[in-house]
Order: sequence, then C-alpha cells, then structure tokens
Amino acid sequence: MRVLGIETSCDETGLAIYDSERGLLGHVLHSQARLHADYGGVVPELASRDHVRRLVPLLARLLEQTGLDLAAVDAVAYTAGPGLQGALLTGAAFGRALAWARGIPAVAVHHMEGHLLAPMLEDPAPDFPFVALLVSGGHSLIVDVEGVGRYRRLGESLDDAAGEAFDKTAQLLELGYPGGPAVARLAEQGRPDRFDFPRPMLDRPGLDMSFSGLKTHVLLTVQREWADGDEATRADIARAFEEAVVDVLVEKCRRALAETGRRRLVVAGGVGANRRLRARLAEMAAARGAQVYYPRIEFCTDNGAMIALAGALRLADAEPGQAIRARARWTLDSLEPPGAAR
Ligand code: KG4
Ligand code: ZN
Repeated sequence: MRVLGIETSCDETGLAIYDSERGLLGHVLHSQARLHADYGGVVPELASRDHVRRLVPLLARLLEQTGLDLAAVDAVAYTAGPGLQGALLTGAAFGRALAWARGIPAVAVHHMEGHLLAPMLEDPAPDFPFVALLVSGGHSLIVDVEGVGRYRRLGESLDDAAGEAFDKTAQLLELGYPGGPAVARLAEQGRPDRFDFPRPMLDRPGLDMSFSGLKTHVLLTVQREWADGDEATRADIARAFEEAVVDVLVEKCRRALAETGRRRLVVAGGVGANRRLRARLAEMAAARGAQVYYPRIEFCTDNGAMIALAGALRLADAEPGQAIRARARWTLDSLEPPGAAR
C-alpha cells in the first residue's frame, strides 16, 4: 500500500509517500518560518492561508520527485490534531477531498503519534516496546510505548513545552523566531559555569516537568547581566539555559527507563535535534546499557513522512466517505491500537 501523508498542523506544510513494503518513496516540505518571523511566533490565520497556497504545488512536486501518478496512491493520511484548528482543516479538507475524488480511504493521524513513530523511518528502526521522549514546540511528554496505539503517559510538562522555552529564551536574547536552533548555536560558545540556572522539578520524584520558571530566570538574568553588544554574556546565558533544560530531560529519561525496565529510548520532536541533548542522552543510555533512537534531523521537526508512516501503520482505521477530522486538542493516550475503534 502506498500512503500519501499530509502535515499542516502548525507552520510546516509537509507531504510524503510511504510504501508499506518499500519504505519512504519521497517527501517535500515548505517551512513558513520566514512568514511568521516578524511576529515572533506563528500567526494562525497566516499559517492556514499559506498551507492552502502550498498544498497543490507541493503535491505536484512530490509526484514529480517520486515519478508516481496520483492513481498509484492507495490511501491518504492527514494530520487531524492536535494543532491549530484552521491549519489542521486545510490539510484535512485537502486530504479528504483527494481521497474522495479517487475513491480511496483516508486516515486521520494524531500528530504526536507521527513524531513518536518517526524513528521507525530509519535503519535500524527501534523495536517495541520503548520509552519515548517527545519534545516539541507544543509538547514535552514521556510515554511508555508497547505498540502502535498502546501508549501510557509517564510524565509531561505542567506548563511550557521544552521547545517553547527555547523559543522564549531566543526572544529574550533577541535571536529571532524560531529560536531553538539559534539558542543552541549560541550556547556552543557559552561557558557552562558562569550562571547556574534552576533545574525545575528535578528534586521531586516522578516524571513531570516544568519549564516556565526557567524562562522567568532567563528574563531576570537578561535584565540584570546583559547589555546590548555583550556577546559573551549572551552566549553564557544561552549555555546556562540549555544546560538546565538538558539536565532535566536527561534525568527524567533516566528515571523513565529505570521505572519501566525498558532498554530502548526514542527521542522525537524539534528539540530532539539539539546536539547537547543527544550527547548527554547517549552517555546516560550507555551507562545503563540502553539504546537511543532518533529520526534523521529533518524528521525531528514537523514533516509529512512521519504522517505517511503513521497512516500506513493505521490503515485499519482508514475511513471511506466524507468525514473531515480536525481536533485542536487530542491527548495521545486516548488513542487505541489500529482497528480497535471499529
Ligand atoms: O516538532 P516541531 O517542529 O514542532 C511542533 O510540533 O511543535 O518542534 C519545533 C520546536 C521549536 O520550539 C524549536 O525552537 C525547537 O523545536 N528546536 C530546537 C532545536 N531545533 C528545533 N530546540 C533546541 N535545539 C535545537 N537544535
Ligand atoms: Zn510537531
């Protein structure tokens, strides 16, 4: 089965075709980052309008890239949530219309399930069961995964997501939007021992996290210590911030592995691209005899390939007909294994 995946939940328009026997056949992506840069964050209405403009040309490019005709597609998978409602509706309506016109089924995919399964696009792919750390701009979650749709939430951020903290820190340090990669780059030049930022909720048992206090700490340090043009201090703040976030994420993952007895850790979502996080997780896992799995960097952030893959694994949930599913809020652990809902 060849599945066309469509991702439009936020500010990336992504399409891909996944073949359940041959793997990923091709993918295309358009990032709206520049469109939203002046506003310091994603403007939902602008995001929706841009998805509408991009979807058809991107599909044409994908078909050209893969040398396939639309008739070669057996099913459509679209991101149905969580995300920006208007943005979701563009991909959902587009995907459903395509499926309906071609008389093929469509699968409504959970965006975070896409992230969680993305490392399975790689070789070697992780086997079930595993612990997953999902760290994106909208979510920070630790999940125990026994199989597709068999998810148990172990912990999550009680306030800001890790990526959101990176983005807000970038804003305070005047690094623009989206800020995660810029903070990470700057942090490489910073000294680790100049500032000591708090490690929220590390002193407490459990796997929940919190990052909003850290943001306040960045704000106060910026106000107290940083003057325009002082590049060294700016880098030191970025480094201290990154160290604190990474410390929290690594320790929570260590506890999750210890608690569940799992030997595999899957890391996905935009913050999973962070190099310091990767290095520190590798050390922690090696010490426990565990293995860490990531998607390739370009599939850490939003993309169509992970949605096509999740759709291929969920063909049992494919719907014929006309239903257009879009849910701004949708918890991951409310999902069931493929086919269970029928
Ligand atoms: O998964 P994603 O593309 O979108 C959501 O579903 O939210 O994640 C985007 C987030 C942004 O907050 C961005 O700043 C962050 O991932 N990010 C990073 C890095 N690359 C992207 N954060 C830290 N270090 C990075 N290298
Ligand atoms: Zn995402």
